[in-house]
Amino acid sequence: MAGAAGSKAREGWSSRTAFILAAVGSAVGLGNMWRFPAEAGANGGGAFVLFYIFCVLLIGLPVLLSEVLIGRHGQSSAPESVRRVARDSNASTGWGILGSLGVFAAFLILSFYCVVGGWVLYYIGVFVSDLFQTGLSGGAFEGRDVDEIKALLPDLFGNGGLMVGLNLGFLALTLFFVARGISSGIEWVAVYLMPLFFVLFLAITIYGAFTGDFSQAVSYLFTFDASKLTGKVMLAAVGQAFFSLSLGVAGMMTYGAYASRETNLGKTSGIIAGADTAVALLAGLAIFPIVFAAGLAANSGPGLMFESLPIAFQAMPVGSLIGLLFFTMVFFAALTSSVSLLEAPTAYMIEKFNLARPVATITVGLGAAVLGVLSALSFNELAEFRPLGFIPIFAEANFFDALDGVTAKLFMPIGAILTCIFVGWIADARLIDDENGIDGLLHQIWRALVRFVCPLVLSVILIYGIFG
Ligand code: PHE
Repeated sequence: MAGAAGSKAREGWSSRTAFILAAVGSAVGLGNMWRFPAEAGANGGGAFVLFYIFCVLLIGLPVLLSEVLIGRHGQSSAPESVRRVARDSNASTGWGILGSLGVFAAFLILSFYCVVGGWVLYYIGVFVSDLFQTGLSGGAFEGRDVDEIKALLPDLFGNGGLMVGLNLGFLALTLFFVARGISSGIEWVAVYLMPLFFVLFLAITIYGAFTGDFSQAVSYLFTFDASKLTGKVMLAAVGQAFFSLSLGVAGMMTYGAYASRETNLGKTSGIIAGADTAVALLAGLAIFPIVFAAGLAANSGPGLMFESLPIAFQAMPVGSLIGLLFFTMVFFAALTSSVSLLEAPTAYMIEKFNLARPVATITVGLGAAVLGVLSALSFNELAEFRPLGFIPIFAEANFFDALDGVTAKLFMPIGAILTCIFVGWIADARLIDDENGIDGLLHQIWRALVRFVCPLVLSVILIYGIFG
């Protein structure tokens, strides 16, 4: 196992498919199912969604390819990979800061991500107990009205002790897989569970399309109203695209280092972005029909997925079982993402301090536990705490929202701008072309996007989003 006894030897993915699945596993997670619908609802629907798709294609995809290629060339943790590309290009190794910033951001995200992972564990528990009570006949939550189902999440939020316990439980599971190392831990989850997840999710979406208010959901999600495309909405959409694709935080650089020379990174990036966006849109199409049919508020915040889907499971045949299966799958999707969030700082610690993998894992985990507890308590005991009250766009944010906002709306776009400048202008073009796996017109488009379009558009959105 890599890192055992402090060895720095790197292990790789066992096959090309395993790398793709693991990278898709990193991308597809709570970002798609929990964060995308909540952000779409908070930002008014269509304008956000369409701008998000635009961001994935024109910014996310080129940045994704840039990140995995840095990783594969560098064959190390993110900061060291960046330094190696810089060294091989006769540029300053100070660019390593790009990787370090990313590692730090991944650590911050990990801490609050595990809080939401805890909610998923809670719903698994809810459906297990429901299955025992109602059995396989009929839907879930027999005899309970919609208000009681909606109240499940707010009730959990009110219970600080349980929130903290679930958060730490989810973090511990993540630590377990990362401590076991790449091929035995992370890959297993990605290879066996991701495909299963796709199938179940598709089935639930199709069911929702027939039973919920599908047409209203479609028009809400896909009607473009230019007047709603404010700076705030644009920054939220860029942030969501980065969050969902695991970009700007060294995650994809770290995974790129485990890809073999034979992997075509251009094609792989297309597959990752395509799969990730498909799942996000499926999530929107599964959740919003229920939101509208059940009269929930589209902008009800981070609980949207958790409050809406159980209502649909109540109406479905064998609903408790489907609910249990669904949340189990969400759990695994979340785990393959949290594992990648933990892997970025862990790989760095192993390399920098020559630690054994389990020791590095636990050290990072302890830090994430502290921030995680503060995030979990921001729904109850610390609800009034505004850590970034002095920054206007984060003035209303509690600890959890502040971490989420700062990482997606500052760290990620800034990391991506630096990555584009580095790959587009600083790194040796021959080195880059040797890695990227694309040629002809596609290559020219990619290069123009990385050199000009992405840094410019991102800078404008960042400034407009913060100050506009
Ligand atoms: N992309 C993951 C998701 O959508 C979250 C993530 C962000 C993972 C950044 C790694 C790095 O759930």
